[in-house]
Amino acid sequence: MTYTLVTGASGGIGQAVARLAAREGQEPLCVGRSAERLQQALPDYRHFEADLTKEPQIRALFERLEAEERVPQTLVHCVGSTLIAPLERVTFLQYAETMATNLSSAIGTCQQFISLLKRRRLPGSIVLFSSVVSRIGVSNHEIIAAAKAGLEGFALSAAASHAALGIRINVIAPGLTETPLTRPLLSSEAGRNAAIKQYPLAGLNSADDVAELACWLGSAKAARITGQVIAVDGGFSRIRPLVRA
Ligand SMILES: NC(=O)c1ccc[n+]([C@@H]2O[C@H](COP(=O)([O-])OP(=O)(O)OC[C@H]3O[C@@H](n4cnc5c(N)ncnc54)[C@H](OP(=O)(O)O)[C@@H]3O)[C@@H](O)[C@H]2O)c1
Repeated sequence: MTYTLVTGASGGIGQAVARLAAREGQEPLCVGRSAERLQQALPDYRHFEADLTKEPQIRALFERLEAEERVPQTLVHCVGSTLIAPLERVTFLQYAETMATNLSSAIGTCQQFISLLKRRRLPGSIVLFSSVVSRIGVSNHEIIAAAKAGLEGFALSAAASHAALGIRINVIAPGLTETPLTRPLLSSEAGRNAAIKQYPLAGLNSADDVAELACWLGSAKAARITGQVIAVDGGFSRIRPLVRA
């Protein structure tokens, strides 16, 4: 059996990744901060409770995986958040939490995952999540854009450091995707219509649209791909169709 470690598995994209990985013959190992939420979301898969912004909990998670001889060779790190607010209203605590959730959790989890692969002399694959807002300036997204840009820089250097060991590291930069994270933005008709208008391709991402790429990048089908940041954003970050009068 081959294992895929899915962090943030109780969230929208994490759930879609865990289900798709299982359909593709992997056993998903699902991580989140609440065993109850994981049980509700994904009752059929193995769960691990851990706050991945806390180093002792990250270490304990990997010790448990090794003790159970469940050694994943793919990590899809779906932990993350968003923060949309005028800069002058952002508190230091909000800023620190956003950095911890989006950047520190990824660095800490990758450190332990890569150490595990090295101890076992195994190749592997990591998929991280950035955002469209790290690639194109979008107003009132300063903090989340900084966290995700930091994540992309981390991923590129780590991909270079570990390529010779057969450890691939890639990043997905989604545009607005329908998940619990974006429910507050999309719950009103006006908010939803305004969001849709921003995107060159009609509609919004589903969690499955993003999970398809994550599982593909994590798999041997993407064996020649590392150090890439790939957008799933309906063209938002690269094209600007002419607006008709
Ligand atoms: N949805 C979008 O439009 C969008 C756009 C661009 C980028 N992204 C990125 O895509 C990724 C997945 O987003 P999503 O939409 O699926 O978000 P989501 O539905 O809010 O899920 C986020 C997950 O992260 C987990 N989590 C948060 N803090 C954690 C921590 N400290 N330790 C462990 N788990 C933690 C949450 O689980 P618990 O609360 O149960 O622990 C939840 O399962 C994130 O990195 C997000 O920034 C999403």
